Amino acid sequence: MCGIIGFTGHKNCVPHLLDALSSLEYRGYDSAGIAYSTDEGIRIIKTSGKIEALKNKIKDYETAHCNISGDCGIGHTRWATHGEPSDVNSHPHRVRDLTLVHNGIIENYAELKESLAAKGYTFLSETDTEIAAAQISLRYSETSDPIKALHKAAEDIRGSFAFGVIFDDYPHKIYAIRRDSPLVAAAADGCGMIASDITAILPHTRKYFPIPENAALVIDGDEIFFFDRFGRELDIPEEEVTWSTEDARRGGYPHFMLKEIFEEPHALRETFASKMVGNLPAINSKILSSRIGTIHIAACGTAMHAGLFAKHYIEKLAKIPVTVNIASEFRYCDPLLDGEDIVLLISQSGETADTLASLRLAKSREIRTLSLVNVAGSAIARESDEVIYTCAGPEIAVASTKAYIVQCASLYLLALDLALKRGMISAESAEKMCSSFVRDICSGISSVFDYSVTEKIDKAAEYISARRHVFYIGRGIDSHLCTEGSLKLKEISYIHSEAYAAGEMKHGTISLIEDGVPVIAIITEISTAEKMISGIREVKSRGGYVIAFVSEEIADKFEIPYDEVVSIPCPSTHAHLPIMTALQLMAYKCAVKLGLDPDKPRNLAKSVTVE
Ligand code: M6R
Repeated sequence: MCGIIGFTGHKNCVPHLLDALSSLEYRGYDSAGIAYSTDEGIRIIKTSGKIEALKNKIKDYETAHCNISGDCGIGHTRWATHGEPSDVNSHPHRVRDLTLVHNGIIENYAELKESLAAKGYTFLSETDTEIAAAQISLRYSETSDPIKALHKAAEDIRGSFAFGVIFDDYPHKIYAIRRDSPLVAAAADGCGMIASDITAILPHTRKYFPIPENAALVIDGDEIFFFDRFGRELDIPEEEVTWSTEDARRGGYPHFMLKEIFEEPHALRETFASKMVGNLPAINSKILSSRIGTIHIAACGTAMHAGLFAKHYIEKLAKIPVTVNIASEFRYCDPLLDGEDIVLLISQSGETADTLASLRLAKSREIRTLSLVNVAGSAIARESDEVIYTCAGPEIAVASTKAYIVQCASLYLLALDLALKRGMISAESAEKMCSSFVRDICSGISSVFDYSVTEKIDKAAEYISARRHVFYIGRGIDSHLCTEGSLKLKEISYIHSEAYAAGEMKHGTISLIEDGVPVIAIITEISTAEKMISGIREVKSRGGYVIAFVSEEIADKFEIPYDEVVSIPCPSTHAHLPIMTALQLMAYKCAVKLGLDPDKPRNLAKSVTVE
């Protein structure tokens, strides 16, 4: 999604803006631009395309005119929502006496546009952002005060936004305001900055100010002042990022996605350290210790798939009913929520708009909210009644890998913790289950990286990357792994794939199986292995090419009629997450074999902060 950056106080902010924009590239974007103050006024350079194209445009400008420098500037990477990716639609936008960058969506932009047009405003672009800029400019003309103008315009605007603004009257200061879109402020080395993502400020400082909802701020050199909507100054405590700059870099791996897959054992250890005491689960939550009716999970994409994994274990171990909801549906389906129910939000970024809206819906219905989030200080973390952090470290690649593994591991511990608290299992069995889980999945995932396994994954990727359609089949919890494995493959390799509960194939989808169509069959459950094998036979007798992903135990015990097999050295009970790691690696390899960049798949963004 779009990225915002702003610097003031440096002799020349332009190189800092460009570096920071590059560090936001992973979020996905289609245009980029900067604006900075000069003796002749504000200069804007922007273009559709990549940051390289922006750099070239800047070079051309320097050749034709003079070297670019300015002590105060703002920058943006745009992911088009209103209007195609084009130079004119790119940010920054300038309206009369101010220049602005924006993340988010202005829902009532059409209404505002009409009333602004009636007041003589004209527009160059098709964007909702230009309308917002005009609305702020209108309010500035009435108040002559940038902070008041930002607050008044925020009241006029419906939707989500983080704005970074330079007013012509204050060319050395950056103003900002946010609602529902991420933005932080920071000061270091005599310079002040704003960024939509902490990664962009890490080269300068690890300390930052989270900007409260609807608060406006001004940065003057390295001084930052925050104001609420009544104009009262706010005292915002500074926070510190625990991630190192190195964490946010690739560390020698060709892609972030690969690095993040290899970080899974480490991320798991961090998660276990924070959620266990001795060999027992210890989730710090008052909500989980209270009476619970139903747990409603709301999440999107991969996080929702982690919710499916959670449902399996919470219902099995703690005997609490769980519903798993796609957040974008949950918020509009008028869900049946009872006073004793809880809503559990799962989100890596903690900023996903639909998940945040589900959280707010639950709160408006006075339902208790608990979130499982990776990014500290994110909107979902801040607004939930309670938050549990997943401790995966920064996840940069658009495709979620280690965050999913760590979400599932945390949710397994949560299920055990609930079962223990509700007396469904004894402390002794909880201890046994917990320690075997920790041992098996850490060693199971590490063993996926052994050559004996990766060469099999590579062979499977070779076959699949030459095909256009793939099916994933499994039963029980394995069918949930199929759903996530299939998403991983399609999002980064653009190969069409579908996941099916294996028993459903014969109710329709099997008609699509013909010679050579790859079918990935996941088997970890001994109780349903025979049924899976019959399903595989049906597929094979129609010409399907079966690649089985199984635990070693299943491979030894059963005769599976596969064409290829990836067998994971891990006890069946805990083979699910190691198999997921193998599927992630296979998807990664497919993308690389197809010459695609797995870190930045087309049309996708890391953090989906619009509906
Ligand atoms: O940050 P979140 O966990 O809330 O993100 C939810 C989804 O947008 C995300 O998992 C998405 O599906 C990923 N691209 C999957 O790899």
